[in-house]
Formats: sequence, structure tokens, C-alpha cells
Amino acid sequence: MNKTEPKTIKIFDTTLRDGEQSPGASMNIEEKLRLAKQLQKLNVDVIEAGFPIASEGDFEAVKKIAQTISGPEIAGLCRSGFKDIDRAWEALQYAGERGRIHTFIATSDIHMKYKLQMTPAQVLESAVKGVKRASGYTKNVEFSCEDAVRTDRKFLAEVVGAVIDAGAKVVNIPDTVGYTIPFEYFDIIKYLKDNVKNIDDAIISVHCHNDLGLSVANSIAAVQAGAGQVECTINGIGERAGNCSLEEFVMAIKTRGDILPFKTNVVTDQLTPASRLLTAVTGIVVQQNKAIVGANAFAHEAGIHQHGMLMEKSTYEIMTPESVGLKASALVLGKHSGRHAFKKRLEELGHDLDEDNLNKAFTRFKALADLKKEVYDEDLEAIVADEVMRVKEKYKLSHITVTCGSFAVATATVQMEIDGLQVRTAELGDGPVDATLKAIKKLAKVDPKLVQYNVGSITGGTDAQGEVAVRVSEGEKNVIGRGASTDIIEASAKAYIDALNRLAVATARDIEPL
Ligand code: KIV
Ligand code: ZN
Repeated sequence: MNKTEPKTIKIFDTTLRDGEQSPGASMNIEEKLRLAKQLQKLNVDVIEAGFPIASEGDFEAVKKIAQTISGPEIAGLCRSGFKDIDRAWEALQYAGERGRIHTFIATSDIHMKYKLQMTPAQVLESAVKGVKRASGYTKNVEFSCEDAVRTDRKFLAEVVGAVIDAGAKVVNIPDTVGYTIPFEYFDIIKYLKDNVKNIDDAIISVHCHNDLGLSVANSIAAVQAGAGQVECTINGIGERAGNCSLEEFVMAIKTRGDILPFKTNVVTDQLTPASRLLTAVTGIVVQQNKAIVGANAFAHEAGIHQHGMLMEKSTYEIMTPESVGLKASALVLGKHSGRHAFKKRLEELGHDLDEDNLNKAFTRFKALADLKKEVYDEDLEAIVADEVMRVKEKYKLSHITVTCGSFAVATATVQMEIDGLQVRTAELGDGPVDATLKAIKKLAKVDPKLVQYNVGSITGGTDAQGEVAVRVSEGEKNVIGRGASTDIIEASAKAYIDALNRLAVATARDIEPL
């Protein structure tokens, strides 16, 4: 039979923009650039690098990524007002023709009435004017009808037709609140295909949020109806319940090529490194049973499954771990391993470190290898997260001593470096962690709210490193801090101090609608 060539679906990654809108996921420029390099390796078609007018930090990150990354197109989000668009292009211009202005305005009745307080005619005018303004800078213009799924279909078709006439090359139909279901979303895309006369002059993009857990299914339904671009994020991070997960969508397309006549340009063995890098940067861990990149995604616990796997892998495995870049986590290094082996393994895990960071990580590895006979991939990931993914450090832990037990009152003596000065204090507490955090707060003279505290072990064995993740908030700012050590009290102190450093640099976003 003569099989037709599968259609290539463009992958628009918005981890650095919509993903960054997850609580606690804000990233600094260096972190965004590190992730952008990994997205380049993944070979996504478009990287949405940020929302340039939202903050100085966002602007600089988009500019830096536009200046540095080659290959994927670089998009910057902006509302349809001229000030937003001008600012977006100021940052994007460095990517030349690969710079994409992504402008949007809400089109649903509920958003127009309550958020924008504009009439449909005003919204249509603003959309068209915005696209024309953007087209004055570049031909690479995408327009999004925010809350498209809850928009009156006739009006949606009118807006889509008008922005294509005005120069939009991509029109995005977002399910902003994660409300739709596959059948309905298919129908909306089909309706636009059938009712917008110039629809073939643009690519239809889809952008699904995951409030009902349907974002991947909805995106698949949309491409079946004719969409040519899918917007998604690594690990599915994003506003509220997140966005369509890039790895899930890409692997669904790849695995079910028998009935889905599509493909993507994504280099799938870079998916696991991308997922791990994002966790290292943001501190947001992936649930164990998450599809594709969760710790259990390729684990076979039940005896009957293990038996089947030994006989023939395809009995229980629909894709191979290697295809998503998951390498068997063997014992990798020990105290006699050299710098070269260490560097090579980090590269395989997706971390290309510069000399300075490599030195820091190697010193820490040697210290760990002295304490622990066997060092695993997960230990290396923790070392990189701990030593390299640190934001600029206002606060540093110098020493910590804790006494505790069933009879003693827990006491922590903490010495820290704050803005270059050594300071020390001791505090009593309700357990060693409480005493430690109290001492740190006293030295730092801050009192943010500890929203969450999680401790886990990175590998098995009593000599395993403990990893602590804390979520801390202060007013509108919400950050995650992580720390690892074979001593869980030290890991707790490091995680808390990491969070304080992140709070110190967190850039607040405060933008008015239009
Ligand atoms: O969810 C949404 O509608 C968005 C748009 C701005 C594209 O993120
Ligand atoms: Zn969104």
C-alpha cells in the first residue's frame, strides 16, 4: 500500500513563558538560557522565551535567548497594545527572521466583559491593529484569541479571518482555562477550517491547559482536525494544572504513528535530560507515575510483568526507555573516577558545564564519593542542582551543628555568610529542622512563610543523600528551594537558604490588562 508521508506538526515550547507562570517556577536569565540550550538540542520548532513587557528580567531573558540560540524560532508574548508589541520586538529583533511576535487578546464574552471591559468590535479592532503593528517589524507574527474555546464561534471565525488578513502567519486557538474535551475541540478547529475563507494562509496552533487532565488528548484531537502547531511545556508545567506536556504529546504521536499520520522534529532521546534539567532549575519535581518522564514510567514491579518483560519486552513496553533518553541508572562513578569520566557522564545527562561550574561540581563529587562508596546518576543530578543551579547567593551556609534526641531540647548553631560577612547564632526549636530554620531566619533577618517541606532520599541505602525541597512565600512571591546532603539537617538548611536567595532575586510581575 502506498502510505502518505506523515504531516509534520510544529512544536512550540512555552516552558519559559507559560511554564514559568507555575507557582514557584520563576527562573532567572541564566537558568532560562540553560533551558533554552536544552530546547535547542530537543530541536523544538519554536521557543517562547518570555513576556518582554512583564518585567525587566523577562525582557533581558528574551533578548539574551534571541541573541544566543540558533535553530528554533524565538517567540516573545505581548498583548495587542502597541507598547507591548514594540517592547517585544526590541527583545526579539536579535533573532532576525526567527524572531516571532506572539500577540494576543481575549475574545470570549466573559473575558471581554469582565476583564477587558471592551466590546467585541473594540477587541476585533485591537487584534487587527496589533497584528498590523507587529507585521511592520516582522512577517513572523502569531496571534492568539485568548479563551478561544469559550468564544462565540462566529466571532472567533471573524477574528481569525481578520488577523490573517492583517498578516498573522499563525493563529492560536487556546483552551486557556482547560475546559474543552477532545470531541468539542476537534469540532472548533474543523469549524474554523470550514468557515474562515483564508484559513489556509496561516497555520492553526493549539494551546491546551490541563485543568481537566485532557490537554494532551485535546491537542491530539486538534491536529486530527487540521492544526499544524502544538504549544506545550516540558513536564507539563504551567498556570494552575499546567499545559499540554511536550513529552507526552510527542511520544503519543511517535508511538501511535500507525493511526496518527503525524510526526514532529523533536529529538526524543533528549526528553529525559530536558525533564531533569527543568526539575533541577525550578525545584519542581515530577510525580513518580507521570507518563514518559516519571520515575516509574518504565518500572515493572509486578512479577507477571517482569516475567513477560524478560521473555519479550514488547509484552508490556509500548516504547523503549532509550527512545526517551532514559539510560539505565547503573553505578556510574566512584572515588577513583576522574574528571574526564565525570564530565562525560554529566554531558550524557544533559549538563554541559563551563570550567568554573565543572570544578565546583567535581570538588563536591569527590567529597561525596569519600562518604558514599557508590555514586549514581541521581546523585550527580543533585550535585549539579546544588552547586551549579544556584541563583546569585546573598546567603551562604558556612557551618551547622545540631544537637537533638529524645531527651535533649533541639539546638542548632548556624554560621552563615551574608553579603560577604560571617555571622553566627544558636536557636532552640521543636526538633532539629525547626531549630535550624529559626537560626537561619534570625541571621538573615527575614521571616517568609514556609508553605511546604519535603524530604526524600535520592538513591537507596543508608548512606544515600537526602534531598530537601521547600516552598517559601513572601507576599506575592513564591519560590522553591532545594538542597542535598548525606546529612538531612544540612540538606534542610541548604534548601531553606536556596529559597531565601531565590526570594531575594525574584522579579515581581505586575502588568495591567492592555
Ligand atoms: O492560555 C492562554 O490563553 C495563553 C495565551 C496567552 C496564548 O497562554
Ligand atoms: Zn496558556
